[in-house]
Amino acid sequence: MVSASANREFFNQQLALQSTKEENSVTTEFDMSGKVALVTGASSGFGVHFSKILAARGAKVVVAARRIERLEALVAEITAAGGEALAVEMDVADSESIAQGFDAAEAAFGTVTVVSNNAGVADVKSSLKTDEASWDKVVDTNLKGVWLVANEAAKRLVDAGLAGSIVNTASILGLRVASGQASYSASKAGVIQLTKALALEWSRKNIRVNALCPGYFLTEMTAPLLEIPQGKAFIDATPAKRFGEMDEMTAPFLLLASDAGSFVNGVALPVDGAHSIGNMH
Ligand SMILES: NC(=O)c1ccc[n+]([C@@H]2O[C@H](COP(=O)([O-])OP(=O)(O)OC[C@H]3O[C@@H](n4cnc5c(N)ncnc54)[C@H](OP(=O)(O)O)[C@@H]3O)[C@@H](O)[C@H]2O)c1
Repeated sequence: MVSASANREFFNQQLALQSTKEENSVTTEFDMSGKVALVTGASSGFGVHFSKILAARGAKVVVAARRIERLEALVAEITAAGGEALAVEMDVADSESIAQGFDAAEAAFGTVTVVSNNAGVADVKSSLKTDEASWDKVVDTNLKGVWLVANEAAKRLVDAGLAGSIVNTASILGLRVASGQASYSASKAGVIQLTKALALEWSRKNIRVNALCPGYFLTEMTAPLLEIPQGKAFIDATPAKRFGEMDEMTAPFLLLASDAGSFVNGVALPVDGAHSIGNMH
């Protein structure tokens, strides 16, 4: 049992700490200078966008995926815009490949302090038509890959005694379900629970872990929607009646990734124009 005077002493200390912070506060919101960020799935879609916005705000960015030529083109673009970036070939389903990628990142820029765990795949088909290889590919990339990359990052942060932020790209399909998406939905629901579990375990190590749950954004993953007659009707039936625009992901991502979100930990943030709320018919 803590005595009343010890309790008062504790609160006085906390208040003193807060007033010091207010006086000395020079935080520029969403400033990423001094950070080393690693983005998986950086060869297209969200990963390209996240890499560019991190670099534009001063982070040194390691762009990772399997298609190295695309990553090298992205590095050239970031460098031409005045940023710093490095391309590393990485398969997130392979722990050896992940360790090598982090070694290369560390050799170039130092310990990775911000991770965008963003690589992902979908294989849209009914469960009865899904074979084991398809299930393994989706779950190994989307769920095991997120765990492997997060663990690799956290081990190195703990060894270096540094704080960090991990942003996992989950999906609104981790919150709700849709036909033909059993493996994908299960993998993304797993990412959301993993996010919360890791946030809880690593909070005292100063490593935050949060997830974004995007609705539908037009990328290579969702491009097939444009090819099918039901595509337009599907998007029209969502509350916003449109795809999300990449820029609408910028502030949510940076809130979770940067020190501006220093007390945000273990959340799964939908960015979906209310799609995941659904409508009761
Ligand atoms: N677009 C949407 O509407 C939407 C909505 C909710 C969630 N998401 C999620 O957002 C994330 C990014 O998807 P996106 O929409 O930007 O799709 P995308 O354009 O198809 O990008 C997927 C990325 O994942 C990478 N990747 C796939 N398997 C990999 C592996 N084994 N190792 C390393 N990288 C791998 C791909 O690179 P390589 O092929 O070069 O390796 C690619 O860069 C995914 O997690 C996805 O599930 C997307």
